[in-house]
Amino acid sequence: MAKSKTQFSCTACGDVSTKWAGRCEACGEWNTIVEDKPISTGPSAASLGTARGRRIELTDLTTEEAPPPRTVSGVAELDRVLGGGLVPASATLVGGDPGIGKSTLLLQAAARFSRMGLKTIYVSGEEANAQVRMRAQRLGLTHSPVQLAAETNLRDILTTLDAEKPQLVIIDSIQTMWSDSVGSAPGSVSQVRAAAHELTAFAKRNGIAVILVGHVTKEGQIAGPRVVEHMVDTVLYFEGERGHQFRILRAVKNRFGPADEIGVFEMTGKGLAEVSNPSALFLSDRGQPSPGSVVFAGIEGTRPVLIELQALVAPSPHSQPRRTVVGWDSGRLAMILAVLEARVGIPFTGLDVYLNVAGGMKISEPAADLAVATALLSAREDAALPADTVVFGEIALSGALRTVGQTENRLKEAQKLGFSSAIAPKGGKALTVEGITLKRQTDLASFVAETFGAG
Ligand code: TYD
Ligand code: MG
Repeated sequence: MAKSKTQFSCTACGDVSTKWAGRCEACGEWNTIVEDKPISTGPSAASLGTARGRRIELTDLTTEEAPPPRTVSGVAELDRVLGGGLVPASATLVGGDPGIGKSTLLLQAAARFSRMGLKTIYVSGEEANAQVRMRAQRLGLTHSPVQLAAETNLRDILTTLDAEKPQLVIIDSIQTMWSDSVGSAPGSVSQVRAAAHELTAFAKRNGIAVILVGHVTKEGQIAGPRVVEHMVDTVLYFEGERGHQFRILRAVKNRFGPADEIGVFEMTGKGLAEVSNPSALFLSDRGQPSPGSVVFAGIEGTRPVLIELQALVAPSPHSQPRRTVVGWDSGRLAMILAVLEARVGIPFTGLDVYLNVAGGMKISEPAADLAVATALLSAREDAALPADTVVFGEIALSGALRTVGQTENRLKEAQKLGFSSAIAPKGGKALTVEGITLKRQTDLASFVAETFGAG
């Protein structure tokens, strides 16, 4: 018999290793490696030799498959992120920081789906039924046919689901669930994995849609949602900055729809409200044109969004000047600063640089490069860009500007929101959008000369 050996897992990314270390080699986090018993050692050579399995039926790819029947919640921002509605027999993970609003979102979703005719069960491992009911009252959802349970024992939950035969089950949260077949404590990597595995397998077998809530954990003994990402069909993250009301639901993986799609919500006193025109929201605080502020015409998923970037450049009292970024990649900022210095001859040595994306939004598109460079230069030169201008384009290390996708959609969104001019890279097909004066540039140096004078 093969002995089950001790192994170590990272609670942040789920990486498995044979020995303990202070820092995870896979994700670089500190103090996240914990001892862990494997769920099963898998089939050994001996077991295959003696006890043979059943022969599985093989099939081919030609059989035509109808698209899955989807249920829409009626909340357009949620349905779009799900890829057009909820798919039966699917598993969805909703991750996010504690307190960001996951329970609120899912209680609202449960109420909507149940009113659409899905038999819905909401299992809370964190709150008592009374607490969930109180929240439902606050949200005005008391007349929805959602059934509640406050339970953490997986065996009892699965037995109940088997008897009740619901169509949608929400588990809040996966870290509180525990299976009596696993020895370790609730929240450990092996418990979270086992619970997610049992729930998703049960859901697929019985045609149930299951939504798992996962808290993003910063450190310590509790496993984060990343350890179950590979087991589910759809991974959504609910993000937002504390102190901002905006919340963004972002699809990072979706077997039934496009990834990278976002839904925008606003946290109000009565729960989450949909924001169907996010551009207006991310720009709402703009007044007079001010140095360092630039509007980026971006694409989030399938939708154009205008977002304000703000930069501040000031003489640094430190020997190592600060580079602080909120909402964008700091490595990418370093690259833009290096290109500005090497290709345009504008150094930022001795200057502190701060870059902020307004409204708590996070941008990952390289198309924001040119808007970032513009904001940095505008702050450094103390010269404001005209308030009616949007900027987008990717910057190469050579200083050349590269065209980005969906130029037309970006320009149309800008036009819709009252902008009248745009700066973008040259190349691609010629195009005009009524009401927008398009200035196209081939490289960063000529762009800087034209926009900010000699630099
Ligand atoms: P919650 O859904 O409990 O977060 P999570 O499940 O992700 O931990 O949301 C908690 C926060 O949301 C809390 O700080 C209060 C706030 N909130 C509102 O602002 N309005 C509301 O209507 C509700 C229900 C919560
Ligand atoms: Mg919660």
